[in-house]
Parts: sequence; C-alpha cells; structure tokens
Amino acid sequence: MKTRESGMPEESMWEQFFDPPAILAKLGVSHLIRDVAEFGCGYGTFTIPVARMVSGTVCAFDIDRDMIQSTQEKVRREGLRNVRLHMRDFVAEGTGLVEASVDLAMLFNILHAERPHVLLQEAYRILRSPGTLAIIHWNYDPTTPRGPSMEIRPKPERCLAWAAEAGFIALTSRPVDLPPYHYGLILAR
Ligand SMILES: C[S@@+](CC[C@H](N)C(=O)[O-])C[C@H]1O[C@@H](n2cnc3c(N)ncnc32)[C@H](O)[C@@H]1O
Repeated sequence: MKTRESGMPEESMWEQFFDPPAILAKLGVSHLIRDVAEFGCGYGTFTIPVARMVSGTVCAFDIDRDMIQSTQEKVRREGLRNVRLHMRDFVAEGTGLVEASVDLAMLFNILHAERPHVLLQEAYRILRSPGTLAIIHWNYDPTTPRGPSMEIRPKPERCLAWAAEAGFIALTSRPVDLPPYHYGLILAR
C-alpha cells in the first residue's frame, strides 16, 4: 500500500525543492560507491543523478506506475544503462534484492511511512557491510511549502533512533543541512 502522504505534486514544483547532485555529494555519494537501492524513485529526481555519480547499478523501486514511467523515460533519454526500475510495494514485499548486495540505500522523503522500521530493516538486510544508508527528509518546520503534515513528519532525532534500532550507526553527529527545506543523515551498516 502506498505510504501515507507520499503523493507527489507536479514535477515542475517538486524539482524546485532540491539541487540533487549537490545533495548527493553532501551525503558522500561518489564513484567510490558501486551499487545502490532507492526506496521510492518518484519522478527520478535523485535516481538519474545518483546513477551518473556511482560506478555500479541503481535499483529503484516505486509502487506508482506513473512514477516508474516518468523515471524510465528519463533513463532512456539520458542513455543510462545502469538503472533498473521495479514497480513494487517495498513495504508489503520488500525490495526482492539479495541480502548484502548494495553499497548505498536511499530513503529520501519516505520515512514518514506508517511503518518506518520495515523500510529500515529492509535497507539493513540488503546493504553490504560496510555500507551506507542515506536519509533525507523535510525540515521539521511547518512553513515548508510541501512535506507531510507535522503530526507524522519525523525529526532527525526520531529517524536516528529508528535507524539505531535497525542496527545502523550514525556517521554524522548532527544532521546535514540541505537548504532550503531538507536535512540529511548518513549512517553506516
Ligand atoms: C514523497 S515521494 C519521494 C520520491 C523521491 N524519493 C524523492 O525524494 O524525490 C515518495 C515515493 O514513494 C512511493 N511509495 C510510497 N509508498 C510506497 C510503497 N509502499 N512501495 C513503493 N513505493 C512507494 C510513492 O509512489 C512516491 O513516488
């Protein structure tokens, strides 16, 4: 089932909220990272840039056919050969990836899910050791132009506590500021 409040606005609006290559670089993404799993590709806002930055394969998952098609079209247009898109409910079914098979898991704008532990446990399962979990989410600030309602919007401390329960170790003592509206967290498997 689609995560609560995870519908997307128009793409032209969504893309105004981020500088994806800069965000990914701030989170330590580089060609030294090989294989990636992205939970919820949306419009491919981060899928395309991460595929250009890493040296291996990006497996991106989304439950929404339109989102998969939108991302697929960009993959085709960019001539990227290292992206695999899967239409799948990763809460109900997991990713289907083999255990310890990726170096980076991306949970971007998705941890307001009903069951964040399920996503974190799946990320832990599929990550190699050492491997990296990157989280971004909307600042805990009611004035942001979008983002889940404040009742379900997780603060960074909340994400860190959930991630620790799943076995992750935080690599940053404080959240990475991703202006204008987001924060980032980097954790180790
Ligand atoms: C808020 S969007 C974020 C997209 C992308 N991570 C970004 O930051 O640009 C969340 C995405 O997760 C997808 N999604 C929500 N619940 C899902 C589920 N249970 N399984 C797979 N995808 C899901 C939605 O369709 C949507 O595209």
